[in-house]
Amino acid sequence: MTAVAGKQRVQRGWDGDAAGALLDWYDAERRDLPWRAAPGAAADPYRVWLSEIMLQQTTVKAVIAYFDKLATRWPTVEALAAADLDEVLSAWAGLGYYSRAHNLHRCAREIVERHGGRFPRSEAALLALPGIGPYTAAAVAAIAFGERTTPVDGNVERVVARLFAVREPLPGVRTVLKELAATLTPAQRTGDFAQAMMDLGATVCTPKRPSCLMCPLNRQCLAHASGIEAALPARAEKGERPTRFGVAFIALREDGCLLLRKRRETGLLARMMEVPTTDWLEDPRVVTEALRAAPVRADWWQVPGQVVHTFTHFRLELLVYRAVAPADAALTFWADAGRCRWVPRRELERQALPSLMRKVIAHGLREM
Ligand code: ADE
Repeated sequence: MTAVAGKQRVQRGWDGDAAGALLDWYDAERRDLPWRAAPGAAADPYRVWLSEIMLQQTTVKAVIAYFDKLATRWPTVEALAAADLDEVLSAWAGLGYYSRAHNLHRCAREIVERHGGRFPRSEAALLALPGIGPYTAAAVAAIAFGERTTPVDGNVERVVARLFAVREPLPGVRTVLKELAATLTPAQRTGDFAQAMMDLGATVCTPKRPSCLMCPLNRQCLAHASGIEAALPARAEKGERPTRFGVAFIALREDGCLLLRKRRETGLLARMMEVPTTDWLEDPRVVTEALRAAPVRADWWQVPGQVVHTFTHFRLELLVYRAVAPADAALTFWADAGRCRWVPRRELERQALPSLMRKVIAHGLREM
């Protein structure tokens, strides 16, 4: 049976009480999101899966337009499996965490080739698919198939830490929070319950200044009773991200084309497009060596300022050099010519350029 959102009553005990109160709130306040089935309608596993992959490490607000774009262009898992990976990467460009797009495509193929185009229903079988970790497996199993399981993301961790006044810090306390979340999960309407927890965390039980007066769980919330909600969840102090340095080259040809390079098949931003850059190293001296690594011989000029971008594991500072190259410009050894292409400026929008590279290009083409 496919999960059906609706107004079936959920049994109430103490835990059931919290679930029941939350589901009543959800019926009145649920966010209208493009991947959600209407109340009482069956959820489409493909749309649920697609949205959950996109929502990994990304906010609902940032995802909506991308979801609409991908779901319109590839409305079924078969369509997505048949798509060209580079087209998927182009459609994903700007959303970040690009390994998700690679895995999305691999997963679609696997579902078509090994599962006859139907998503497996169990959490365990979902977990075996590319790009699906414990959170996403639980979310799809609950939302698309009504399995009794509890997806716990950062929002849900916050709700649970407050509800039970858990003072131990994340990330160490993560398993405990998962177990506590599971104790709240009702036997029915598990998908609605999961989404209600997510909505509550995103709109009411927010990190700063939670709206406890509006909260359907305020009478049960132990952190609220002690007035410590804003301090939870506690977090262990993180080390600082290291900084890496490099130089990016904006090579413009006289005919208005810009030199782009396709990144390697694996690693950070795999297969995405970029302007050629030096290596990104923790040693800032890479910058003084830079002109040796220029992709074309030309008069390079340093654009004032720099581009700073934060990745999960490091912060990147790029200086940007710009040059106008003759129409017959030969690429240097450093350009890695097999991966380079001169692209007309009007076609940049359609390229699989990550946000970092869009920033670099905007910076490099300033005042032109
Ligand atoms: N965050 C992750 N999954 C979500 C969902 N299905 N609804 C709202 N926010 C989410």
